[in-house]
Amino acid sequence: MKTFKKILFWSLLGFALIQFIATDKVNKPIDHKVNFIEAKKTPEKIAGLLKGACYDCHSNETVYPKYAYIAPISWSVKSHVNEGREHLNFSIWDTYNKDLKESMLSEVIETVHNKTMPMPGYIVYHKEANLSDAERTLLTKYFEEMLKSKTY
Ligand code: HEC
Repeated sequence: MKTFKKILFWSLLGFALIQFIATDKVNKPIDHKVNFIEAKKTPEKIAGLLKGACYDCHSNETVYPKYAYIAPISWSVKSHVNEGREHLNFSIWDTYNKDLKESMLSEVIETVHNKTMPMPGYIVYHKEANLSDAERTLLTKYFEEMLKSKTY
C-alpha cells in the first residue's frame, strides 16, 4: 500500500508539473487572398466539409478542443497540427507552385477515398469529421474536377 501511495503521489506531481510545458496555440494571421476556400470560391457545401473535417490540422484556422490544453495530450495534438500543416496547409494554398498543388490534390483525393484522412483518432471526438461515403465522393469529385480542368 505504501508503495502504491508513493507511486500515486509522484505520478500526480509529475502530471501537475508537465502542465507547465505549454504548447503554442496561437494561429498565424489568415491571408484571405491565398486561402483555398476563398481563392477557389469553393461551393458552400464543400467548404463546410473541408472546414469541419480538415481545417483543424491543415490550415491556420485551428480550433483547439478543451482536451488539447491538458499535457501530454496537448503535445500530441500540437504535433499533429504541425505535421498536418507541413504536408498541406489550405490557408496558404495560393502560395504553392503548380507542381506542389497537383501532387497535393492527388494526395487529397487518395486519402479521402481510402479513408486515411481525416485521422481516425480525430473522428472519434469530432462527429462532423466523420464523413459519409456520399460526402467523401462529393469531395473527391470536386478535387478530381479541379485537377482535370487545371483550375488549381
Ligand atoms: C487531426 C489532424 C488531421 C485532420 C483532421 C486531417 N489531417 Fe491530413 N494529415 C494529418 C497529419 C498529422 C498528416 C501527416 C502524417 C500522415 O501522413 O499521416 C496528414 C497528412 C495529410 C496528407 C498528406 C498525405 C501524404 O501522403 O503525404 C493529405 C493529402 C491530407 N492529410 C489530407 C487531409 C484531408 C483532405 C483532410 C480532411 C478530409 C485531413 N487531412 C484531415 C493530420 C490531419
